[in-house]
This record gives sequence, C-alpha cells and structure tokens, in this order.
Amino acid sequence: MADLTNVVNVGISDESVTLFEAQYKVNGMAYNSYLIKDERTAVLDTVDLRYGEKWIENIKATGSIPDYLFITHMEPDHSSNILRFTKEFPNAKIVANAKAFSMIKNFFGTDFADRKIEVKDGETFSLGQRELLFLAAPMVHWPEVQMIYDKTDKILFSADAFGRFGTGEKSRDWAGEARRYYIGIVGKYGMQVQAVLKKVAALDVEAVCPLHGEILTENLEYYIGLYDKWSSFAPEEKGAAIFYTSVYGNTEKAALRLADEIAAISGKRPPLFNLSACDMAEAVAAAFRFSHIALATTTYNMDIFPFMHDFIARLVERNFKNRKIGLIENGSWAPNAVKVMTALLEPCKDIVFCEQKVKISSAMTEQNLNEIKALAKKLTE
Ligand code: FEO
Repeated sequence: MADLTNVVNVGISDESVTLFEAQYKVNGMAYNSYLIKDERTAVLDTVDLRYGEKWIENIKATGSIPDYLFITHMEPDHSSNILRFTKEFPNAKIVANAKAFSMIKNFFGTDFADRKIEVKDGETFSLGQRELLFLAAPMVHWPEVQMIYDKTDKILFSADAFGRFGTGEKSRDWAGEARRYYIGIVGKYGMQVQAVLKKVAALDVEAVCPLHGEILTENLEYYIGLYDKWSSFAPEEKGAAIFYTSVYGNTEKAALRLADEIAAISGKRPPLFNLSACDMAEAVAAAFRFSHIALATTTYNMDIFPFMHDFIARLVERNFKNRKIGLIENGSWAPNAVKVMTALLEPCKDIVFCEQKVKISSAMTEQNLNEIKALAKKLTE
C-alpha cells in the first residue's frame, strides 16, 4: 500500500461545470493538483483559471511554502494559474520540459527564464527524501505531457491518464466515466499510450494520482488493464451495440427489432443509441467498448443523416478499428446510406462488414424482418 501521507491534493472539485472542453457533458470535474511535502516542497500542476484563488488558499493551508511548481501538462485546465503561482511564491522555481516551457511562453508571454529548471525524459530530481523520475508521455494528451514517478513512495503522477469525468461525489461509475474521457480526449493516440504503459510496466507502482478523478490505490491491474485494452483498440467486451438515427420512426423500429433479435440469440439486449438525442461522447465510447456494432440511418441529401455522419467522423478521427459492423439503410426513393457509410468508414483498419445488409424503403417489410434476423445472427457470431 502506497504511503500518501506526504501527498496532499490541493486541487479543486468543480461541482458546477456541466460542459468540459466545450463538448463533453459532465457532472462536475476534479482538477487535481498535488503538493508533495519533503525537505523541499513541490506542487504538481495548477487548476482551472476560475479556481486560482481557492487553489492558492489550499496550498497555504498545508503550512508548506512551495519550492517548485512541476508541470506535467499545459492544457489550460491544469496550467492557467502558473503566472498567479509565480507571483504568490516568488522564490519558487518552475520545473518542466522544453516543450512545456515553449507552451508557457505562448500562454504567458514569458518562460520565466530566471527561475526555470528544464528537465528531460528519464532524469531524476530529489526533493530531499524523495527521488522523482520524469517520464515523457507525448500525446497523452498533448505533446509536452510527462508523468512523474515518486521512486520512494511508488506513486505515479499520471497527468491526464487514468483520469475521468465527474467528481468524487457524482458519477461514481469509474469505468464508464474514464472510458468516455479516454476515448473522447486521448482515444486517437493509442500507440503513444501503449508506449507509456510499457514504461509504467517496468515500475513498481502502488498508487496512481491523475489530474482528474480520484487517486487509485487498489486493484491497479484493473485500471491499467482497461487502459491497455482501450489503447490497443481491442474490444473491451464481446457483444453488440446499435447506433441509429430515425427521422419518422421507421429506422428506429428496425434498430429496436435488431436489438430484440440479438437479445433472443445471445440472451443479452444490446445497448441502443439514438444519435439525435443521446450523448455523442457516450455513443463513441460504446462503439469502442463492443466487438460488434450496427449502424442504421437514412439517406439524406444523397448523403446520410447528419448525426450519423458526425458519429462516424468521430470514430474515424479516433482511429476506430478491429470491429465487425452491420449496416441498415432506409430511403424512400434513392437509398444510398449503406454506400455512404461504407465509404466514410473506409479509413478504418481491420473492419469486417457483415455481408447481410438491410435495405428499407420507407417502412419495414416481411423481407426486412428476415434480413434483420439474419443480420442479428452475424452480429452475435
Ligand atoms: Fe485535463 Fe489534457 O487536460
């Protein structure tokens, strides 16, 4: 069990935020910032701009005066109060890598040349009793990201990795909120996450302190295992999920019927996502969760319905791959949706399309019901 007695989370639990990074619906958000007490005191990262004053109060309440501000990530939810920190603690040094210092200059017009300490991947830094190791983690989530490993207490300060949406009080479903967070924000960069996981595997980690969400101290193999699955683009679960849009209800009927048929075969009803109404980030995360997905939509302006277009674009953007996909189209006079969806998904690697398609002309027919039954079989194989 890691000894966390010298680590204080001086960050902020923001219960009021409902939209994170201008697109993710959240029930609050934690902006963690860790103060490590030792012969010399270090603070890791700052917090969202709106909470600078409270953050400084939290630091002062520990009774320690920081000697250093370590930067692990420069996205503004963590870096906005760097200038404020330098004014509040004029003797403290800023410790960051070269990429972070160049971003600091871009954000604040100075890189604090007279008080900067530049560090590199693999270097260590002593706080007195504790030795800290810097681990570059480029693109998890920005290029300057580094993790910090406390070799003495075996604590990994993991930056955005292993974070989640929501606060401790709300959204307690760690996997659900962490999946939505990871797939939405970092999902595209699985290869880079894999590289960092290899570095982490060589360390003896007893606690993970992320920049969002709770500190993880138990069952770490579970969290690391999920990250390994997500970042290798492997399905987390064998099973199907259905994503659809429906203008007048006929395509929805087909999607619901497909869910019934899959449930009849597998004993498990697949989750259904109406892309016009659901949380898009939740739908994208679900597509990465399951091994099989079905997409049902209408032809629209000789393209497809906009929400399905948007959904597929988000999958492609995140390097969606390695899945089996079933397609249902509806069109009243010139159905074209299967062709459009297939073309949009073309950049995705290792995709198998079910040969059985479902082609609806306005409303379902007996033949469509048989096609759906056959598609359900393929999506449960
Ligand atoms: Fe929580 Fe990439 O910032």
